[in-house]
Amino acid sequence: MPLVPDTDYGTPALTAEKMVSLTIDGFSVTVPEGTSIMRAAMEIGIKVPKLCAYDMVDAFGSCRLCLVEIEGRAGTPASCTTPVAEGIKVTTQNQRLGRIRRNVMELYISDHPLDCLTCSANGNCELQDMAGAVGLREVRYGYAGENHLDAEKDASNPYFTFDPAKCIVCSRCVRACEEVQGTFALTIDGRGFASHVAAGMDEGFLGSECVSCGACVQACPTATLMEKSVIDAGQPEHSVVTTCAYCGVGCSFKAEMKGDQVIRMVPWKDGKANHGHSCVKGRFAWGYTQHRDRMLKPMVRERITDPWREVSWEEAIGRVASEFRRIQAQHGKGAIGGITSSRCTNEETFLVQKLVRAVFGNNNVDTCARVCHSPTGYGLSRTFGTSAGTQDFDSVEDADVIIVIGANPTDAHPVFASRMKKRLRQGAKLIVIDPRRIDLVRSPHIEADFHLPLLPGTNVAMVNALAHTIVTEALTDAAYVRERCDLDAYAAWEAFIRQPENSPETVAAYTGVPAENIRAAARLYATGGNGAIYYGLGVTEHSQGTTTVMGMAHLAMITGNVGKRGAGVNPLRGQNNVQGSCDMGSFPHELSGYRHLSDSTTREMFERDWGVSLDPEPGLRIPNMLDAAVDGSYRGIYIQGEDILQSDPDTHHVAAGLAAMECVVVQDLFLNETARYAHVFLPGSTFLEKDGTFINAERRIGIVRKVMQPKNGYADWEITQLIARAMGKDWDYTHPSQIMDEIARLTPTFAGVSFERVAKESLQWPVNDKAPDGTPIMHVGTFVRGKGNFLITEYVPTDEKTGPRYPLLLTTGRILSQYNVGAQTRRTANTVWHEEDRLEIHPHDAEDRGIRDGDWVLLRSRAGETSLRAKITDRVAPGVVYTTFHHPDTQANVITTDYSDWATNCPEYKVTAVQVSPSNGPSKWQEEYEALSRETRRVVQVEAAE
Ligand code: SF4
Ligand code: SF4
Ligand code: SF4
Ligand code: FES
Repeated sequence: MPLVPDTDYGTPALTAEKMVSLTIDGFSVTVPEGTSIMRAAMEIGIKVPKLCAYDMVDAFGSCRLCLVEIEGRAGTPASCTTPVAEGIKVTTQNQRLGRIRRNVMELYISDHPLDCLTCSANGNCELQDMAGAVGLREVRYGYAGENHLDAEKDASNPYFTFDPAKCIVCSRCVRACEEVQGTFALTIDGRGFASHVAAGMDEGFLGSECVSCGACVQACPTATLMEKSVIDAGQPEHSVVTTCAYCGVGCSFKAEMKGDQVIRMVPWKDGKANHGHSCVKGRFAWGYTQHRDRMLKPMVRERITDPWREVSWEEAIGRVASEFRRIQAQHGKGAIGGITSSRCTNEETFLVQKLVRAVFGNNNVDTCARVCHSPTGYGLSRTFGTSAGTQDFDSVEDADVIIVIGANPTDAHPVFASRMKKRLRQGAKLIVIDPRRIDLVRSPHIEADFHLPLLPGTNVAMVNALAHTIVTEALTDAAYVRERCDLDAYAAWEAFIRQPENSPETVAAYTGVPAENIRAAARLYATGGNGAIYYGLGVTEHSQGTTTVMGMAHLAMITGNVGKRGAGVNPLRGQNNVQGSCDMGSFPHELSGYRHLSDSTTREMFERDWGVSLDPEPGLRIPNMLDAAVDGSYRGIYIQGEDILQSDPDTHHVAAGLAAMECVVVQDLFLNETARYAHVFLPGSTFLEKDGTFINAERRIGIVRKVMQPKNGYADWEITQLIARAMGKDWDYTHPSQIMDEIARLTPTFAGVSFERVAKESLQWPVNDKAPDGTPIMHVGTFVRGKGNFLITEYVPTDEKTGPRYPLLLTTGRILSQYNVGAQTRRTANTVWHEEDRLEIHPHDAEDRGIRDGDWVLLRSRAGETSLRAKITDRVAPGVVYTTFHHPDTQANVITTDYSDWATNCPEYKVTAVQVSPSNGPSKWQEEYEALSRETRRVVQVEAAE
């Protein structure tokens, strides 16, 4: 579509029970009480000139450009700060108002460079527009007086510049940073003529607390804050609305383009997940899509020690098909399988699992979601009946008490974190349960009421102790439990939870959290109004991940906190399409919509549609595939968009499994680590190069639109189809919408979903006859499974124990600027914020070991060792160390163990007993790895050049 700026109503939308009617320039309008006159005018298409107002932030009333007259009132009030009143008659344009506005504009322009024609904002500048709108033709004061025209530009941020010469000190940026992002990095410093925008302590953007979310850039009405990509390439000309491919928030963006070149990604105000906000990754870190490391040609090799050889698509696909057929003929149908990706679209994921079930003829399909949120699926389906979170993101606006457990939203789900922080600034209470003092515990204008810094591995004990307090202190919502829950299951659970071993006093000994804090937090959650639980991988990636999910579901049910706004149990999903990849039937035992293979009615439905018979026996999970490979019974694998060598636990075992296979096919954007063991490499396509859908953490189906042709020649779904066809199937999808139609046909929770509908409006599943417009809040009135279920959640300490050799507990997490194993973000300027993974260690533990800040340290566990540099901080408690896992040369997974969740095999990444000691630099394997990677790259380049 042509580039049309989002409509700016000047002030934020309000909701109010009472509506107010008034007349503006002779036209009637009715709006909610409290709405500004400016917004009311804009609702009927009357644009009042403005500069300091912007509808993402509260009005400030500083520029005096938006003055209006109100019949019977003296003066000329600012329409942005004056609320509507019943029956008033407003005039927005007349000679007097025009004169005042021209005078105001004249003052602004007299201290502004007159370089419009060469300015990067030319044609898309509100100051320029307003000068035109108020009819300013000349500036009477001249430009010789004192001005800011020589002020120095700040280009320290890698993605945008700040040019104070162009600043009109409207403070839109400052308010955006405070109100939208919640970082408070900017202030207006100085007074009068000297007043200016200051980042941090006036130290420049890069040195300040700025997290590069871009909200200020978007808010700026001039070229003062401007994307470097626009400065370099000029203003975009058209735009396409699509969905961010990074995290599970699923922000909507307008890809603003010039020809087929992306100029910038601008968060879309109508996006239901983000309402026009963004974080540094989605907003700026899209350069990886055109990075020189991207592989664009298929490659094959006989042995993994051979150099790669670039080949045609026909040859590569032919190789895959013939190898897979050969392996099946020699070793049986079950000797091959596939892995779907949580980064690819639903349609692509659905096709991979279809390939495995309908073409390979087995159920050896699994997904990387196994290693993050599989306990969510299982835990919530056993208790509530659905494998997904209960709320939409907007629901947080009604939360009174928020529990954040095992999640770090400001780093991993930043746009949702900004919404949450806004609610917290409005007065909602906060309980943080995390071994580490995450930013939410204390950040500008936010302080958690309780931080319960439990030892890694004790979540179940903590959740049980919270429930124990609520039950034994008679704080349950007994009426809710009576009406909504399975009373037999509840009675059994209640008898269990009342036992003294679940009391805060008992668990304090192993959680390390004082009993009175646990009790006080439980009381707050149970009695503080709407209680919402948000959690992440710090819950799921444990040997009892599923148990904790169930325990949180119990907490919500006993307090009546499911089935209404402001409440619920909400997994914050890591990757963009983790929810979707699970929904699409990526697990070996389930078809799409979480229906077990053993259900013959469901199976027959697929069999009829696909014209095949399906194996009713569940296939192998990823760890079992690797075990079977080592044993010799599993010989080939198709891995789409996943780097299991980096993301799966026990790297040595993954490597051994891959090395034992005869045909490893890797399809990805980059020659990833897993590709070191591949025989065929199929280049993948980015989210900008395909149509499809992603499903975010709130079950929202967001549209992904192709903004450019695939640089590699094919979208990922087309590559899967090529393999199916080469293996003898007549798949003939010509567009992913046909795949979505098939998903809808075969999946009751998606029955009402189509591309056409999702393109108009993102919907939250279930979308079907019972919920034609989707389901923002689940389990309203009744649970999907009928009565809410309770299960015994006994705390069983992990087998991974500390001792004299490994006295510290390692836990891991993400940092804002990086994403997962860093394949994308490490190929962007985001590296300025995080060049390497570091080990956070408490000052006492560091001192005991003679470690200083920045020293290289050796991190050893029972599984392996790695070296990285230390960061001494009291964010972690004594006895706990922490690192991120974004850099392959650190490979935190080398030291994680192979313990996993009892129900789902989700690896226990969050608890590893370790020892830390000073070291001289990288470990031996890291040096070898570096050399090997360089060698791999060199071989590719040499072969390609030939
Ligand atoms: S940088 Fe832009 S938004 Fe901020 S005060 Fe200056 S002109 Fe206004
Ligand atoms: S980019 Fe975001 S965090 Fe940084 S100053 Fe602007 S609004 Fe604040
Ligand atoms: S919060 Fe997540 S979805 Fe939104 S822009 Fe950032 S990475 Fe993308
Ligand atoms: S827009 Fe109303 S005072 Fe600036």
